[in-house]
Amino acid sequence: MILVAQVSDTHFDLGTRNTERAQRVMAYLAELRRRPDVIVVTGDITDSGKPEQYAEARMSLQADLPVLAIPGNHDERAAFREVLLSGTPSDDPVNQVHRIGELTLILLDSSVPGQSGGRLSDETYLWLDDTLASTPPDAAVLLALHHPPVFLHSPIVDTIALEDPQRLAAVIAGDRRIIGTLAGHAHTAGVSTFAGRPLLIGPSTASVLGGEWELAPPERVMDYGPDPSVALHVIDDDHRLITHFRSVPMGGWIASPY
Ligand SMILES: [Fe+2]
Repeated sequence: MILVAQVSDTHFDLGTRNTERAQRVMAYLAELRRRPDVIVVTGDITDSGKPEQYAEARMSLQADLPVLAIPGNHDERAAFREVLLSGTPSDDPVNQVHRIGELTLILLDSSVPGQSGGRLSDETYLWLDDTLASTPPDAAVLLALHHPPVFLHSPIVDTIALEDPQRLAAVIAGDRRIIGTLAGHAHTAGVSTFAGRPLLIGPSTASVLGGEWELAPPERVMDYGPDPSVALHVIDDDHRLITHFRSVPMGGWIASPY
């Protein structure tokens, strides 16, 4: 089996709270008896895209296994590239591919500079086509992006979801190797389907955003009470995708309540 850990919406903001919560989740992953093969961070790494916030993220998200990150609407591509990825600053989409055994993990940059809503650019779709064309025919492919491509009945997020999801759905529907899609952005653990495949929404380590049944703006929008959470995606030998969600108590593991 292949184990993919999904951390999301860490919102590093130079304060101690969000940093400690992200570090606690990273420590939880580091202590697992069976370590993940890769950690994917599905956007909103920082709260406002400042280079110092990426420096904080880089320090807190380091692990002795691959950690792959894509931008969200709170990120800035140039600082993201320069500080987090040690690359040359540019505003081009930060798309990445990572192969682990039979799994090909494709990370798509759905951020749009200056906007909160998401879109995959023509450049990203061309890159996705090329990447799929160079992926082995017997591979299992998992996509990841920040903006969910379906409405989640989460009023804040649904107004800034992925634009033109039909275009991505057509790619998925046309490729049987794609076993599912991971997204962030919603600050809630969630499950749906998209183009007939699983769509898994990874929870935020920072906060929980209400659905329409609990949201009462302006007071009750974001809940900072719950523990940080993480998603663990298993890809088994039959390329079946199984997802577990874990909240990670800030106080650590409790073996017995007695
Ligand atoms: Fe976020």
